[in-house]
Amino acid sequence: MRIAIINGPNLNLLGQRETDIYGSRTFEQFFQELQERYPQVAFSYYQSNVEGELINEIQRVGYAVDGIVLNPAGYTHTSVAIGDAVAAVTAPVVEVHISNVHAREDFRKLSHVSAKAAGSIFGLGLTGYELAIEWLLRK
Ligand code: DQA
Repeated sequence: MRIAIINGPNLNLLGQRETDIYGSRTFEQFFQELQERYPQVAFSYYQSNVEGELINEIQRVGYAVDGIVLNPAGYTHTSVAIGDAVAAVTAPVVEVHISNVHAREDFRKLSHVSAKAAGSIFGLGLTGYELAIEWLLRK
């Protein structure tokens, strides 16, 4: 089982960024725990602050892995091109947001990814990534 985790802009700052919203754990700590919890899964992890680099990574892994867990972060709300990349690849994509995007500013209610994703999880913190992985494993 191969699962790619892809994080968008500013998620490299988890643990120090708006900790009241995003929590105090770094993604590196969390990713280490994920790898220990799911030894049967070959994970890859990629983070970029650059829209085109995220698209390149979705294209690179999207025909090879069994699933993608994608948090497009701020690009969720602006990027038609990331939505198109999600639609293009054959791997199922689970969209994850740490915060409840529907309980925040109105502009966060629009996602260019949700309609192209297999499903979306938001508001459940980093646990959302685990739930996405559980779904991919059961699929
Ligand atoms: C986010 C929500 C987005 O609106 C925001 O721009 C992010 C993180 C989340 O995980 O809650 O950077 O995707």
